[in-house]
Amino acid sequence: MKIFIDSGSLKDYEALVPLGIIDGATTNPSLMAKEGGDPRAIVKKICGLVQGPVSAEVVSTTAADMIAEGRELSKIDPHVVVKVPFTRDGLKALKTLSGEGIPVNVTLIFSATQALFAAKVGASYVSPFVGRLDDIASDGMRLVQEISEIFNHYQFGTQILVASVRSPMHIVEAARMGAHVCTCPASVIEACFNHPLTDIGLAKFLKDWEKAQGAKV
Ligand code: E4P
Repeated sequence: MKIFIDSGSLKDYEALVPLGIIDGATTNPSLMAKEGGDPRAIVKKICGLVQGPVSAEVVSTTAADMIAEGRELSKIDPHVVVKVPFTRDGLKALKTLSGEGIPVNVTLIFSATQALFAAKVGASYVSPFVGRLDDIASDGMRLVQEISEIFNHYQFGTQILVASVRSPMHIVEAARMGAHVCTCPASVIEACFNHPLTDIGLAKFLKDWEKAQGAKV
C-alpha cells in the first residue's frame, strides 16, 4: 500500500520523505490556506520533494471553470493529480480532464455509489473520507471495504485512496483491506514510530553493549 502525506507543509515533507516510506501527497484548500504564500509554488516544491503523485484541488465549482483550473494545475508539474469534488460538475470536469490524459482524484467520497460513478468516468483515484464518517458515528472503513468489493468485480483502473485518516489503526485497516493508498497527516505517520517496547528494547541493547565494553578494559 502506498503512503501519501496529507499536508501543505513543506516541513512535513522534509521530515518524512527521507524515511523512504512516502510515495506521494495530497493537499486540499483548507491545508493550503493554513500555509499562506503561493499555493502553486508550494505544490511545485512538494512535487520536487516527493517525486510521486501530488493531488492539488480545484476551488472552482462549475465544470467549465474546474476544467480550466485543472488544466492550469496540471501544468505546475508532471506529478500533479487534479483533485475535484464529487459533484455533478466535478464528474463533468473529470470526464474532460481524464479524457485529456490528466490524472484526477475525486474527493469528498462518502458513499459507494459516488466511488462507482467516479470510477466509471475515469478517475485515477477516489478518496473516501473515513475519519469524517467516524466523526458522525458512521463506519468509515466499512465504506472502504464496500468500494474495494465493488472495484474487485471490474477493471476500472481507479485506485482507492483512503483519506481523512485520524490514527495508525486507519492505516492498518486500509492495508488489510487492500486499499491502494492511505494519505496521512504527518502526526499519524509520526505516531507509528512510538512504541514503548522498541524504546525499552533499544535502551537495554545499548546498556548491555556499554556494560560489555566496560568489562573489557
Ligand atoms: C484528503 O485528500 C483530504 O485532504 C484529507 O484527508 C481530509 O482530511 P480531514 O477530514 O482530516 O480534513
